[in-house]
Amino acid sequence: MTDYTQVLFKNRRPGETASLETYEKTGGYEGLRIALQKTPGEICAQVKYSGLRGRGGAGFPTGVKWSFFPADQPGEKYLVCNGDEMEPGTYKDRQLLLADPHQLIEGMVIAAYALQAPVGYIFLRYAYEDCSQVIERAIAEAEAAGYLGKDILGSGFSCELHLHRSAGRYILGEETALINGLEGRRPNPRSKPPFPAQRGLFGRPTNVNNIETLANVPHIMRNGNAWYQQLSAPESSPGTKLFGLSGHFNRTECFELPLGVTLREVVQEYGGGLRNGKRFKACLPGGASSPYMTAEHLDVAMDFNALEEIGSRLGTAGVTAFDEDTCMVAVTRNINRFFARESCGWCTPCRDGLQTISWLLDKIENGQGTEDDLTMLHDQVRNINGRSFCALAEGAMGPVEALLRLFEDEIKEHIRKGKCPFG
Ligand SMILES: Cc1cc2nc3c(=O)[nH]c(=O)nc-3n(C[C@H](O)[C@H](O)[C@H](O)COP(=O)(O)O)c2cc1C
Ligand code: SF4
Repeated sequence: MTDYTQVLFKNRRPGETASLETYEKTGGYEGLRIALQKTPGEICAQVKYSGLRGRGGAGFPTGVKWSFFPADQPGEKYLVCNGDEMEPGTYKDRQLLLADPHQLIEGMVIAAYALQAPVGYIFLRYAYEDCSQVIERAIAEAEAAGYLGKDILGSGFSCELHLHRSAGRYILGEETALINGLEGRRPNPRSKPPFPAQRGLFGRPTNVNNIETLANVPHIMRNGNAWYQQLSAPESSPGTKLFGLSGHFNRTECFELPLGVTLREVVQEYGGGLRNGKRFKACLPGGASSPYMTAEHLDVAMDFNALEEIGSRLGTAGVTAFDEDTCMVAVTRNINRFFARESCGWCTPCRDGLQTISWLLDKIENGQGTEDDLTMLHDQVRNINGRSFCALAEGAMGPVEALLRLFEDEIKEHIRKGKCPFG
């Protein structure tokens, strides 16, 4: 395996969480000291020109998002960290928190200062009991050391952070549903506009960023943009990325790799190939809502733009591998069941469409499918894409659309044989 620079995982040790002391010894909270010498506008500009892109799934440029935020507006403004992480195949934020949680605290204080949003919430997946304890401890340590709380490091800037544990549904990861959840309301997504930056939590300007996104900020502040950009090859996707491997890989671990490594390197070097010497058939490259990649994509660079060019998405970089014996109809059916169950039920194309797709994929997998069912699958994808209220439904269409595009022969074989060809 290539010895790539470790940024977010540099203090990672098996079974240990880095202490505040370890974090400080390796440059921790220096980024905050540097940031507090700058104006909020200068920090936003630096993050913008660093090229950092959101790690929560969409890859939106973080500094551009921050530049839309009305930092000068008087009154309450909020910073929210999205740690819902319920996308199947995604566990990188948990690994980051368990390895070195102060990166998130430092990143949030810098962001809170840059956005002049001094109250922050960490919205955490309910099942992450271990992370919740780690965060509570890190908040207390940071407060005791003067990195958080009143008059941080004598700068006059004060910031408070609160941990909020999710009620435990996938839709709560969608940022406006998350805001409703934080307010104690039913987590239906809200219509946009107004965007959270205009009217978010409690009707006030709110910025939502992913854990890994915020954890990158202190390193950018401390080491500068040129350093950050040389971490990876593609100009459009600077920095490292946490890749969480799962499925049929020999090694199902989370690795920090430069954006732009090839899928082949991920599969062969980091995943250690597939179990029992089987051949690689396909993968979900970025969580369950990303369109499949196949063996023909092994030389594609794993970065935001390159994956879009081949009709997929880097998403969360949770890479789930499937070997040559896997039935892709069955995989897609299982994934779709998850999305159908997690639909909030607010809009009809998603609420009814995902159930219909589940029913069609069940039928095909069980050997009762017809050519009409295949046509109906295509119709359902067309009906859901662009006609649903939030991105859950479009995300759910990623694997279904890729099944139809890349594995149509396999679907037809189920129909022709009247059974699943994989037994
Ligand atoms: C159904 C759904 C679930 C989502 N789950 C998460 C999540 O668990 N964590 C996350 O950071 N973003 C998630 N997102 C994306 C967020 O809405 C939002 O774009 C993101 O938190 C922004 O942070 P970033 O710009 O730092 O990536 C989800 C989106 C949707 C539609
Ligand atoms: S697309 Fe699905 S999850 Fe999103 S609002 Fe509509 S029903 Fe709810």
